[in-house]
Amino acid sequence: MRLELVTKDNVHKVCKVKVHPHQEVFVAPVAKSLAEAYVYPDAAWPRAIVDGDRIVGFVMVAIQPDDPIEAYRFCLWRLIIDADEQGKGYGRFAVQAVAEEGRRRGIGQLHSTWHPGDGGPEEFYVRLGFVLTGEVLDDETVGVLQL
Ligand SMILES: CC(C)(COP(=O)(O)OP(=O)(O)OC[C@H]1O[C@@H](n2cnc3c(N)ncnc32)[C@H](O)[C@@H]1OP(=O)(O)O)[C@@H](O)C(=O)NCCC(=O)NCCS
Repeated sequence: MRLELVTKDNVHKVCKVKVHPHQEVFVAPVAKSLAEAYVYPDAAWPRAIVDGDRIVGFVMVAIQPDDPIEAYRFCLWRLIIDADEQGKGYGRFAVQAVAEEGRRRGIGQLHSTWHPGDGGPEEFYVRLGFVLTGEVLDDETVGVLQL
């Protein structure tokens, strides 16, 4: 398993990564995320999640150390594991790889924000060690993982 840059060679396959229909409320499509990465090139860190020769997901981190809101300084902005690939450890791998990138940069905390609700990712984040901060940002729950 590895994270790879999104390039002209893989972008079409990356855009085919889709969640289950009932999960669509919790995350934007990959193509929208890549459009945002284009508009915020200094902050966005988008990567394909790859296993062997298969693209199984997409992750995008916001890296903006000077943001006035602490939770947005090193923050999981998008995390999508393809519907057919969920429950196989790819989400855990992606978060660990992002955490490793943060440590490499000397960053002490990884935040994530998510829509609360049934079928959402809260349990996933808690299992991975995220602690709820009690904040609500843009109607989303905030969690933090110490690196
Ligand atoms: C949330 C998501 C990223 C999890 O990815 P995944 O690859 O299925 O998760 P993993 O297989 O790595 O699971 C890691 C752990 O979390 C648990 N877990 C994963 N999803 C869970 C859920 N919905 N509820 C409870 N536990 C969950 C797993 O059981 C596993 O626990 P364990 O290793 O202790 O047994 C994936 O379901 C997804 O893409 N969801 C839709 C998009 C979304 O909500 N993204 C987050 C936006 S902020």
